[in-house]
Amino acid sequence: MTDPTTIEDTPQRLFFALWPDDPTRDALNRAGLWLYQHWDGRRMRADTLHLTLAFLGTTSATQRNALLPHVETLHAQAFELTLDQAGFWRHNRIGWLGIHQPPPQLADLVSALHGALQRAGLAFDTRPHMPHVTLLRNTAGGELPACEPVHWPVRDFVLVASRTETDGAHYDVIRRWTLR
Ligand code: 2AM
Repeated sequence: MTDPTTIEDTPQRLFFALWPDDPTRDALNRAGLWLYQHWDGRRMRADTLHLTLAFLGTTSATQRNALLPHVETLHAQAFELTLDQAGFWRHNRIGWLGIHQPPPQLADLVSALHGALQRAGLAFDTRPHMPHVTLLRNTAGGELPACEPVHWPVRDFVLVASRTETDGAHYDVIRRWTLR
């Protein structure tokens, strides 16, 4: 992991996310295989699986340095997630795993991040947060049996830089914060 204050002064495409531990990542990857078997499409690589909390888009080093102190002082609690709902969005052909009844701590964490972004003067996507893990792209959806829930003990959150390479998106976790 790199300290973002020491990385070169180039624009970075950033987002805050929940990044799964290994057992959760395995379970999400199995859910991706299950969804693929029903819906086809293109599976996301296991190492890219995550749940976006706030999407910042392209940021400068100056903006990153302005933001970090506000994130350091953010108060948020650890919580448990149960991803128990598979879904499909027609507009972007994404198949995802989401949460039927998101716990209040998840919305609290998202609004604490929005507060930090506002205080740092950074723009972010303000559309209502729809928590989901993208499992498939370029899928047409369809009927589904009930899905096997994925349990996710959430103990931290991360800041991720996204790079687009010829073989697809690559995500670098550049900072991690522990939840209380
Ligand atoms: P998606 O998985 O539904 O495509 C990195 O691109 C992450 O940020 C992905 O989880 C992606 O969501 C999300 N993302 C990309 N563009 C976004 C935007 N404009 N607003 C919110 N989230 C976005």
